[in-house]
Amino acid sequence: MSVHQSSNIKRITTHILQEMKNRGEKISMLTAYDFSMAGIVDAAGIDIILVGDSASNVMAGHETTLPITMDQMIYHATSVVRAVKRAFVVVDIPFGSYQGNSSEALRSAIRIMKESGAHAVKVEGGSEIKESITRILSAGVPVMGHLGLTPQSIYKFGTYTVRAKEEEEANKLIADAKILEEAGCFAIVLEKIPAKLAKQVAETVSIPVIGIGAGGDVDGQVLVVHDMLGITQEFKPRFLRQYADLRTTMTEAVQNYITDVKAKDFPNESESY
Ligand code: KIV
Repeated sequence: MSVHQSSNIKRITTHILQEMKNRGEKISMLTAYDFSMAGIVDAAGIDIILVGDSASNVMAGHETTLPITMDQMIYHATSVVRAVKRAFVVVDIPFGSYQGNSSEALRSAIRIMKESGAHAVKVEGGSEIKESITRILSAGVPVMGHLGLTPQSIYKFGTYTVRAKEEEEANKLIADAKILEEAGCFAIVLEKIPAKLAKQVAETVSIPVIGIGAGGDVDGQVLVVHDMLGITQEFKPRFLRQYADLRTTMTEAVQNYITDVKAKDFPNESESY
């Protein structure tokens, strides 16, 4: 892993991500939605930061990703971009801002790029949104695709279980991955599909394939940062590895603070003017 130095930082680009796939170096990706978290994740050496529309769940407490707006996504993205020195920053175009209307898709992508300073956008879907992807790419905006369990379509699926277990859906997913590659996407996220199928996709397309719940035989991995740090503890899917228990750490810190305030132990003389 290449962790950045405070001087001479080489920014990650789509070109570098492609080179990583070509030489078999795995790509690391995490979400972030605010300045403080993005600064930590970037300084730790992550390759891609996704300002995911999972902000709708994690930051705003909505049940799905559908309610988050363009203005809210741009607010999160702007805060993240201000903190990032090395990582490639990708922003989800929110639900309803690109499907079915390629002119609106282009407008949305340009707003995100112009107002937030991010480096690319992400959209969910395959053949259905090909025209929107082509239009966004025509403006020189890099596009990351997202196939498999696409949370913006949760009411169509009706469940968050593993997608593409049946042959028909698996074949469509492979066809969609090829469409995204041919359209010019620089990478594809595959969410919650069988590992065998994800491997097949990663071997079929030449662009990087980043998995979440898609096994280890893809070109990189992405997780929601609040999940892997153990801040959101109610969400424990099989694919999630929890690297810390920050909810417990934070709860104990807050409880200790309350105790000290109540006991008149905080602030002490050295903490006063
Ligand atoms: O919004 C998000 O966090 C995502 C990841 C789960 C890939 O799309």
